[in-house]
Amino acid sequence: MTKLFIANWKMVVSGLDEAKRLAKHIHSNKDFHAVVCPSFVHINSIEGKFDLGAQNCSSHESGAYTGEVSAKSLADLKVKYVIIGHSERRQYHHETDGTLCPKVTACHRHKMNAVVCIGEPEDIYEQERTQLYLQTQIEEIGLSKMDHKNTIIAYEPLWAIGTGRTPSVEEVDNTIKFIKKLTPQHKVLYGGSVNSSNIMDFYKLKSVDGFLVGGASAKEEELKKIFK
Ligand code: PGA
Repeated sequence: MTKLFIANWKMVVSGLDEAKRLAKHIHSNKDFHAVVCPSFVHINSIEGKFDLGAQNCSSHESGAYTGEVSAKSLADLKVKYVIIGHSERRQYHHETDGTLCPKVTACHRHKMNAVVCIGEPEDIYEQERTQLYLQTQIEEIGLSKMDHKNTIIAYEPLWAIGTGRTPSVEEVDNTIKFIKKLTPQHKVLYGGSVNSSNIMDFYKLKSVDGFLVGGASAKEEELKKIFK
């Protein structure tokens, strides 16, 4: 069964030469449907056997919003997936669960898939309150009311992003099954320190529909191993 592999290059891949070099190693195959989310300004300059994605978009259709990028502009560049509410957007740009819905609607208006990020902070994980935390996020974002055909959930524990730590395979399975109980039709991805050594362990889980991959998706050696 083919699972999604969404490469989130963040601002890590900031040179166009590097972006083009990395893109050569990413291609959809029988295991993965690949999506690459480069910097906005590189979207039009990279191509390959993958869909294009973006890391964010404005909730506004158009207007005087200096520095923002609209869903329409992205759709015009053939972008198919947009990451919404990534933890770094929440941390550095004050995004909250309550502000994500209009962004998702903007993506849908332009026939793009929204990849909505949720995940618990470390203290919540340690106190074993992850499920209640995620349930609240799902309610506040309004995820269960969003069309499952073009809304994908990315479960990314905040303490696993960029740290080299992940929950166990069993924990990921249990948490994603819990999310699917609340929103049975949505695809759910796992993200947080996914790399060439652990991806196949998570891949085996029936509950996991794919991956949102940061660090490893920006390293040639890792990509070579993942897309053999
Ligand atoms: P990571 O990032 O793979 O580097 O942990 C994942 C993400 O931020 O989407």
